[in-house]
Amino acid sequence: MTQPSPLWYTARGAGVVLLLLLTATVILGIATSQRWGTEGWPRFFVAGLHRNLSLVAVALLPLHGLTVVLDTYAHLGIEDVTVPFSSHYRQLWLGFGVLAGELTVALVATSLIRHRLGYRAWKLVHWLAYLSWPLAMLHGLGTGSDTRAWWALLVYAACLVSVLLAILWRLSLMGERAGGWQAGMGTLCGVGALALAVWTLVGPLQPGWAAVAGTPRELLGSQRAAQGTAGTNPSATPTPTPPTSPGSAPPPSPTPASQLPSGLDDRLAGSVTETDSGLQVDLVDLRDRSLEILLGIPGGDATTGPLTVTRGGRTICRTSADLNNPVTATCGGTQVVISLGRARGGEEGAARIVGILQTGSPS
Ligand code: HEM
Repeated sequence: MTQPSPLWYTARGAGVVLLLLLTATVILGIATSQRWGTEGWPRFFVAGLHRNLSLVAVALLPLHGLTVVLDTYAHLGIEDVTVPFSSHYRQLWLGFGVLAGELTVALVATSLIRHRLGYRAWKLVHWLAYLSWPLAMLHGLGTGSDTRAWWALLVYAACLVSVLLAILWRLSLMGERAGGWQAGMGTLCGVGALALAVWTLVGPLQPGWAAVAGTPRELLGSQRAAQGTAGTNPSATPTPTPPTSPGSAPPPSPTPASQLPSGLDDRLAGSVTETDSGLQVDLVDLRDRSLEILLGIPGGDATTGPLTVTRGGRTICRTSADLNNPVTATCGGTQVVISLGRARGGEEGAARIVGILQTGSPS
């Protein structure tokens, strides 16, 4: 199994920059279409910035795509990043990104030959910007390894709010001539933004999303161990730790970033996913959501499995747990007891699980 390399981090960094560029391009495009300008920001400057930022975005797209291909982490090929929805890795969410990228190239290409196309045809194509931008957002949120990081959420929220405000401003300037269309589009955008926010909360921000999103099983174990978190956020752990597979003896714990407090009696919720080497249980503390627990359950008659406890992405301890119910372990000197139970319902690829975390006094 492989773990994230500098190429993977570069790809993710380029992705965030691309989203910011596309957001700025859309806002400046709206400003250009409304002939907006001030003394400090004359119209020609706004239009020029709109054009140039979109060109930078198109220049950055190959870096984003090529770095994921060159990196061996997700085993992606040229076809995966050029043919929408052809990938084995998070098919839908990667597909949205490929589509958004290709639409962006089409928008720029048609703009460069605008005089040949004629205004009406060009403008019709240009309106696809209102499709490419949401697709880029869905792609980033759905497949982004950083979605659960606070700074990434801030970036997504800022992009969403600023584009929503720009569109509402554009609609408000349409006045009488737009009639019911104006109110309809405004409502559609508001509902769309709300739906995106709710989906982010119940989807990408939940433990086990990596599996639900379509991460191949063989990657799930290495990804999570490398992350030291239950989510999809390798970057939250400043120095990725080597992968541990269920059943293998856990490597010695690093110096604890912080201690696991004693006296906890907290409810847990999470998911169980099957990996090649057994089961992975991801749990989040419902009172302190920064506290996450990753438990490996090897197949066969194994009575112990690796247990990792993280807070805010930092590993508190990596230890071996006794696999009874309740599961017991000692984490950095603190006794840990985790009672597990099945949650009602469940979804394909990741069964839901609940539990109680109790910690005893440090020994
Ligand atoms: C070389 C590249 C580009 C050029 C020269 C260009 C040019 C323009 C111009 C002149 C307008 C104003 C149209 C009008 O109302 O008369 C405009 C609007 C707009 N552009 Fe671009 N554009 C480019 C790329 C892009 C890209 C890549 C995106 C999206 C990511 C984009 C998004 C928009 C949006 C959202 C509008 C407002 C459309 C509307 O609501 O009427 N543009 N663009």
